[in-house]
Amino acid sequence: METHAFWLVQLFLFALWVNGLMTLGLTGARQPVIVCNESLMLEKLPRCGKSFEEMMKKVDSKKWCNLTEFIKYYDNFSLCTEREASAAKCFWPNRLAQGFITGIHKQFFSNCTSEKDHWEDPPDEILITLIFIPVLLMAAMISIVVWCSKRSDILV
Ligand SMILES: *[C@@H]1O[C@H](CO)[C@@H](O)[C@H](O)[C@H]1NC(C)=O
Ligand SMILES: *[C@@H]1O[C@H](CO)[C@@H](O)[C@H](O)[C@H]1NC(C)=O
Ligand SMILES: *[C@@H]1O[C@H](CO)[C@@H](O)[C@H](O)[C@H]1NC(C)=O
Ligand SMILES: *[C@@H]1O[C@H](CO)[C@@H](O)[C@H](O)[C@H]1NC(C)=O
Repeated sequence: METHAFWLVQLFLFALWVNGLMTLGLTGARQPVIVCNESLMLEKLPRCGKSFEEMMKKVDSKKWCNLTEFIKYYDNFSLCTEREASAAKCFWPNRLAQGFITGIHKQFFSNCTSEKDHWEDPPDEILITLIFIPVLLMAAMISIVVWCSKRSDILV
């Protein structure tokens, strides 16, 4: 019974892994040189900033440090930048986009630090979390797959 479950888990992980490889293959192998059009990206990103700015204007500026007030706008902004970056065939995240986003953070959240201690370095924390969760998940998945395949080498 237990081995049964083990194989099911392994099959599932393998499917995920193949899926990942295929995704990499489709974007990587068929287009070996992905040219990031940085100027195109830098041209498009301010639109995301603009619409975020528009949305933030609806929020009382006294509440700009209250994450619950603007998280949905921020989410929208974040998705927007990601979309524009990939439209310009740039990897996400990248240094230029990050610089742009940091600028937006400074514009809106620079005064949040003095208010509360736990807001000490909020924008970057949010940014890093948003960026690295998928990366970490991917890494974790890969290591689980590697670990499982090593284990099955021993078991088989
Ligand atoms: C990059 O985008 C610009 C438009 O902003 C375009 O004029 C240029 O041809 C693009 N470059 C490449 C290599 O696609
Ligand atoms: C933040 O905004 C939410 C929703 O308006 C409110 O319930 C909450 O009390 C606010 N928190 C702070 C710390 O102001
Ligand atoms: C997100 O942004 C798009 C335009 O960029 C806008 O049409 C849409 O209404 C926004 N969504 C929310 C929930 O504000
Ligand atoms: C931050 O505070 C300064 C000085 O009080 C003010 O000029 C500036 O507009 C504020 N910025 C934001 C984003 O609230």
